[in-house]
Order: sequence, then structure tokens, then C-alpha cells
Amino acid sequence: MHPRGGHAQGSRSWYQGSVHDGRPSLTSMAVATIRAVYTDLPAPFAGAHDPIAGALVPRPLSLAARIAARAAVSERATGLVHRGLGLASLGMTYHVALRTRAIDDALRESLAAGVRQLVVLGAGLDGRAYRMDELGDAAVFEVDHPSTQRDKRARLRAARIEPKAREVRLVPVDFERDDLGASLAREGFSADAPSFWIWEGVTVYLTRAAIAGTLHAVGAASAPGSRLALTYVPPREPRIERILLVGGRVAARVLGEPIRGFVAPAELAALGRDAGLDVLRDEGADAWAPRYWSTEYEGIFEWERLAILERRAG
Ligand SMILES: C[S@@+](CC[C@H](N)C(=O)[O-])C[C@H]1O[C@@H](n2cnc3c(N)ncnc32)[C@H](O)[C@@H]1O
Repeated sequence: MHPRGGHAQGSRSWYQGSVHDGRPSLTSMAVATIRAVYTDLPAPFAGAHDPIAGALVPRPLSLAARIAARAAVSERATGLVHRGLGLASLGMTYHVALRTRAIDDALRESLAAGVRQLVVLGAGLDGRAYRMDELGDAAVFEVDHPSTQRDKRARLRAARIEPKAREVRLVPVDFERDDLGASLAREGFSADAPSFWIWEGVTVYLTRAAIAGTLHAVGAASAPGSRLALTYVPPREPRIERILLVGGRVAARVLGEPIRGFVAPAELAALGRDAGLDVLRDEGADAWAPRYWSTEYEGIFEWERLAILERRAG
């Protein structure tokens, strides 16, 4: 079954002037390329497994990922590739590979408990609906700007990749201005059945109002016991934050996706509580690396944290 795209609702007017201006998200390509490298990287860095990531990014990126992974011909060479990419990206490559695996495991836990709806917020080139057998009985709702969804759909078709999920619905939403709950309901999402939500690598691009508004929409559309896996960037000391903001401004020019939303762990917990969502766990790469990589973790920079929130009853 091919993913159904919900582009019927007058798409142009509502995404005109968005950060992407009709262009697919470049940050989603960057993180998918990192996943492609780590999918093919052998032990001790195996663990993040996204075998379709390479097919979803433009050819020069998939080629670069393949070359990096092929260079890992020995344990020493693997270490050099891993460390080299880590240094060049200030640890972003480590972070993305590990966070994807940590979220996969949190999702598996909910699927094993009987959840049959997955919503991927800011899905970009997320491959879970196409790579996880565990989603065979589940409906997946991929929420993003339509420009990114169009590009992904074309690449899936070109690579003849079919969903493993029972069905995939594309839900075009801009978190800054659209009604997430209504958009999901139009695509058949049920607020009465438990769900799992993923918001991976997105909140940093959003205003505080969009983060709070989306959390409320998630809370309102979640049956008790539903969970949300959300990554966020905590505020840093002023010097580091200035560097991030300047880097963010450059990235905004080049990638069209400005960095906006730093959130402190306590603020996140309060925003969640307000939306009926309680934090179950909140951790970073330091906690994941010993779980997934059989080597000592030498982190370079903690980019984000991952919080797992649960919809409380009542
Ligand atoms: C860094 S990518 C992460 C993609 C995916 N979650 C992953 O980890 O592979 C950020 C994603 O957020 C989406 N995004 C950013 N701002 C958005 C907004 N205001 N509304 C909807 N999607 C947005 C982008 O289109 C992009 O797909």
C-alpha cells in the first residue's frame, strides 16, 4: 500500500512563506545521512539500524554515507570513521545514531503493550513505517510540511520501498499555525485509542508557542497511557548559546530552518504537565551509549535530551 497524502486542503496558501518555501527539509536529509552511515558501520558502533535511510537522501549524500561506511574495514578504521565524523560534527553524528535507537526501543515497548497508532511529528525522512516489522498491525501518521512529504514519497516510489506498517497517512501540518488535532482526525486518527508519538529533532526549530500548542494538541488527542518521545535542546551557558544561535542563523540562511526553541528540563516537564503529559524518563547520549555501543563513550557535546512523557488518566 502506498502512503496516502492529505494535500487536498488548499496546501499552497498555508505553507507559503514557511521556512522551507516549498523545498524539502535539508536538516531531515542531514540526519538521515547520519543514520545511513551508522546502519552500515560495524561493531562496536552498530545499533542504529535504518536500512532505508540511504535510499531517501539525494545521491551525493547516500554515496558519501556508503564511502564512509566502506572505509570502516577494520576495528581501527571503524573507530577513525566514527571519531572523524564525530569531531567534524561536534558529536552530532553520535547523538543522532543513538537517539534514533533509543526512540526505536521506547516505541517497541509501547507496541508490545498493544499500541496500534504511531504519530511521527516533523517526520522528515523517518523510516520507521518502512523498516520496522513490529508496526505490521499499526497505522502510522507522518506529520510534516508537504514539501518534505512530496520529496520523500517520490524517493520511496523510485526505490520501490513499501511500508511495513499496516497503513501510512501523510498529514501536512505546520506546527506554527495549523490545528494538529483536527488534521489528524481528518486522516482517521482516533483520540480514544492509545498512541505513541515521536517528536525527534524538531522542537529546536519551533517557537515556544508552537511547542506548547503542539504539546496541548498531543495531550488532547492522547488516550491515557499514550506516550510521547520528544527531543529538546536545553539552554546552555550564554557563551555556548551565542555560538549555537550564530550557527543557527547561518544554518537558517543555508538550510532555511532557524534554531529557536531552547527548553530547560524543568520547563519541559511543566509544559508537559499542563498538557496532561508526565515525564517518565529524561536522558541523553551519556545514558544511551553504554546501552548500545560496546565501547567507552567519549561524548563531544550534548546536543539534545530525550524525554518520554505519558498521558495521565483523567
Ligand atoms: C531535523 S529534521 C528531523 C526529521 C525526523 N524527525 C528525523 O529525526 O529524521 C526536522 C523536521 O522538522 C520539520 N519541521 C520543522 N519545522 C516545522 C514546522 N513548523 N511544521 C512542521 N514540520 C516542521 C522539518 O520539515 C523536518 O522534517
